[in-house]
Formats: sequence, C-alpha cells, structure tokens
Amino acid sequence: MLTVRAPATSANLGSGFDVFGVALDRPADIVRVEKAERTTIEVTGVGARYIPEDPERNTVGAVAEALDAPAHIRIDKGVRPASGLGSSAASAAAAAVALNELYDRGHTREELVPVAAEGEAVVSGDAHADNVAPAILGGFTVVTDDGVTSVDADLPLVACLPDIVVSTRDARGVVPERVSMTDLVATVGNAATLVAGMARNDARLVGRGMDDPVVTPARAALIDGYDAVCEAAREAGAHGVTISGAGPAVLAVCRPGGRRDVATAMVDAFEATGTEAVAYLSRVG
Ligand code: HSE
Repeated sequence: MLTVRAPATSANLGSGFDVFGVALDRPADIVRVEKAERTTIEVTGVGARYIPEDPERNTVGAVAEALDAPAHIRIDKGVRPASGLGSSAASAAAAAVALNELYDRGHTREELVPVAAEGEAVVSGDAHADNVAPAILGGFTVVTDDGVTSVDADLPLVACLPDIVVSTRDARGVVPERVSMTDLVATVGNAATLVAGMARNDARLVGRGMDDPVVTPARAALIDGYDAVCEAAREAGAHGVTISGAGPAVLAVCRPGGRRDVATAMVDAFEATGTEAVAYLSRVG
C-alpha cells in the first residue's frame, strides 16, 4: 500500500484567473492506494457524503483509468468539497502521484499535471490545471496552454472558509465575457507584480498584485459578507485579500507573525453576517 498527502490549493490569487495557483500546507487529503483487479473507491472525512464512490463519477477513477492503474483507493478528505480550496484537485493529484509510483509508470511530476486535470474534469466539466498543478508541484504555479512553470515560495497565508457552498459552475457563470483595455492593463500589471513578489518571497508585493478589477468583483456577490471580511482582514494587517479559487473561501496574504490576528478578524466578520467560518493558518507549501 502507498500513501500520499495531497495539499489544498488556492487558484487565481485575484489577478491570475485560471492561471495562478499555490499549494497550501494545510488542510490536506490523504490518499492510500493498493493494486487491485478493478478500481474501487472509499471516501471518508470532511464532506465525504457528497463525494461519489463510483469510479466513473469520481476524479480519482478517471486518473486510474488514464494511467491504466486499477486500484483500491481510499481517500480521507481534509479539504471540504466546494470550498474553493481545490478539494477535487487534491484527490486527483494525490491519485496521479500515488498510482504512477504504485505501477512504476515513470511519468514526471509535470507529465502528471494534465492526467490529474482530466480527472478533475469529471467533476467540474472542464480540465483546469490551476489547482492540480500546485497540488502536484508545490509552491506557486503558472499554468498556460504551453505548460506549467513552478516557483518555490514561502509566504504566510490565511484561508478562511465560511459555512456556505458556491458551485464552480455558478461562479464561472458570472465571469464577464469581455474586459476593457483599462482593466486588461491593470490586471497585467497586478499579475506581473504578484509574480515578482512570489520570486522574492515579498508578501507586501504579492498582496498588491492580488487586486483584480474583473473576476473577483463579479464573484463577490456570491459570498455574503465578502467586502466586510476583506476590510476586516486588511485592518488586521493583511497585505492582500481575494477569493480563493471559485470561492467561497477567502485567502489573505499576511506579514510574518500576522496570521492569527487576520484569521480572527476574518472569522468574526463572517460571523457578524450570520455565517460560521473556520480559518486555516497556512503557508505556501
Ligand atoms: N480557476 C478556476 C475558477 C478554479 O476560478 O473558476 C476553480 O476550478
């Protein structure tokens, strides 16, 4: 039997819609695989009852199929489904890494990214790699049609998850189809600033580069209390705040030693709007 830990991830980081992603050092899924005649799946942990165990409808079933690697696969979920923290990607990424090793398939980590993305497409209907790439490669990743670039980074983060559900499908439905040249220029500037910040492990620069005039404002309406939570996080010292992936989790970049204050402020701000929330004190992992 082989065991792999798959981290939560946060896609977009505001200015990098469908392009940027980071691995978080917590929460995480644990995936165990054993060779078998045919693939069977068992799911336990957070939100397990919402996840199908039928290999045809589960991300990891598609990964096992793609690698021709039938197995008994046990997934212990630490990443809540529909959280904006890359829950399905965590399982797909872990399965790809584990089955590649179990069956000695010899794929590189980079080659496993599209395999895991196909697995994700089973649930999201679309093969985005912006969560599976950081889940497999770690650090900060940039995904384009031409491949993946990863950068080691080490930054303090808070991921605050309210007790509401936002479907990725709904969140993609509100994304504007067109952008103005003014917004395009602002977004390119912010994205470039963020990349420079990641390369330098500069939380202030990363926070500045997370501003996004296009996708985040459109999606904020789906998360009750979003503006108040951002304001509370900034007042508590966060350098930048944005929606994590398609939401509803909210991600804050903090200064060293600043995570606890930011986490408390974000949870309190959600609770002031009547929504319970948990906060993970995390890092780019
Ligand atoms: N980039 C994707 C989105 C992540 O924001 O819709 C969720 O799959």
